[in-house]
Amino acid sequence: MAGGGIVTAPGKNYPGKLTFRVFITSLVAASGGLIFGYDLGISGGVTSMDSFLKEFFPSVYQKESTVKSSDDQYCKFNSQTLTLFTSSLYLAALFSSMIASWATRTFGRRVTMFFAGFLFFIGAIINGAAQNVAMLIVGRLFLGCGIGCANQSVPIYLSEVAPYKYRGALNMMFQLSITIGILVANLLNYEFAKIEGGWGWRLSLGGAVIPALLIILGSLFLPDTPNSLLERGKKEEAHRQLVKIRGVQDVDEEFNDLIAACESSKLVKSPWGNIWRRKYRPQLTMAFCIPLFQQLTGMNVFMFYAPVLFKTVGFGSNASLMSAVITGFVNCIATLVSITTVDKVGRRFLFIGGGLQMLIMQFIITAGIAWKFGLSGNPGPLPKWYAGGLVACICVYVAGFAWSWGPLGWLVPSEIFPLEIRSAAQSINVAVNMIFTFFVAQIFTWMLCHLKFGLFIFFAVWVIIMTAFICMLLPETKGVPIEEMQQVWRSHPYWKKYVCNDETADLTKNKKESTV
Ligand code: BGC
Repeated sequence: MAGGGIVTAPGKNYPGKLTFRVFITSLVAASGGLIFGYDLGISGGVTSMDSFLKEFFPSVYQKESTVKSSDDQYCKFNSQTLTLFTSSLYLAALFSSMIASWATRTFGRRVTMFFAGFLFFIGAIINGAAQNVAMLIVGRLFLGCGIGCANQSVPIYLSEVAPYKYRGALNMMFQLSITIGILVANLLNYEFAKIEGGWGWRLSLGGAVIPALLIILGSLFLPDTPNSLLERGKKEEAHRQLVKIRGVQDVDEEFNDLIAACESSKLVKSPWGNIWRRKYRPQLTMAFCIPLFQQLTGMNVFMFYAPVLFKTVGFGSNASLMSAVITGFVNCIATLVSITTVDKVGRRFLFIGGGLQMLIMQFIITAGIAWKFGLSGNPGPLPKWYAGGLVACICVYVAGFAWSWGPLGWLVPSEIFPLEIRSAAQSINVAVNMIFTFFVAQIFTWMLCHLKFGLFIFFAVWVIIMTAFICMLLPETKGVPIEEMQQVWRSHPYWKKYVCNDETADLTKNKKESTV
């Protein structure tokens, strides 16, 4: 193993406590995750509502309603147009995260959050009023742009305002609000699906205006982070802000480190050009691999398609939506476990533990589906205990994700990037996350139809790969101040050769330039 990745944290110990102000600020900022979560939860639910399918995707509805229980259940939802409805949003989010990278640097994190809410609001109105598929897709493009901006700015904002000892917990409030968004959306879908006349889906889609308004209002009252203020040349305001959020007067050591980080970031002319340098290779690798792996856990198969999947294994329409509520609830509660432990047990422990838990469940779920559905996809009558057991296994799997790759997928990237490449690297993180969310959403129904129960084995293999990756290549970042993070890579057995060689080359070059 390339050195387990346990390294000692640099000996910094900035004064400062977890103030009420920071807690409330983080709570408000984290509500930015609600828009993402609400959409994740809503899309899966509405695409399993008959009235919605009849109106916009009549061919899917017809196919689904004519499938008999003796037919191949694996293929009844296989429609690329239907999945395009779900996944178009992620393409928009991918592009908007690139623009949001520039916006977070130029206007600050807070203004970017405001735009996130605004774009999401427009998308929600268009979707709630949709008359045809084109309107649905345009609405989703707006929603996607909003999500791209929020996912770019909120995690960075949280990691920057948090005192380093509590950074894990405060940052994870973003994931908590994602899971609350999913749960609320699942509950609303369950209720709205019962509305007579079948127009409940309009309420589900239009209801997205509420989380949009929350982030708009929140962003109007939030202060900007000291790091972002310094980045934009507002030194005195940055100092005042740091004193306020740390709740102590003695912030000089941290402030000087922030200034030093900011000065060295100013020497970097183009973050996009610099990010490819050898000394940033560990960060670049993480910015790419962590979101990639997060999506390849297969979690979104359950998030988007839980009702569809539960229908496939024989639950009725309402029972499917109810089961999605149960998994949504487990997702939310398990995130709390992560919040309360991450700054004590560390990131690596949760990544590895959660990975193993998901892996075991993936094998059990595969065996269960293979046993009853086999290759033909025709299970015959399914006993109640079987369906209940399957939901229970899915819940244990979801809990595994919720205390590992879910929150850590957003926390770790946001805390390891040095200021000079932070915005660019975060937008790679968001973009990769969105591409692979798109990929999983787009090909899931096709994969289920063709790989059958093997679908879950596909994701299990990825969980093995990502767990090995964490064991070998991710150092522990618990308790390391964010502007001191470079030290962690310098002392890592594998990454040090990239970081130190390049830094030595920089020093030699600077020396030569100053003697000329
Ligand atoms: C992921 C989403 C996922 C959600 C589930 C997030 O961290 O980025 O793709 O649906 O967690 O809780």
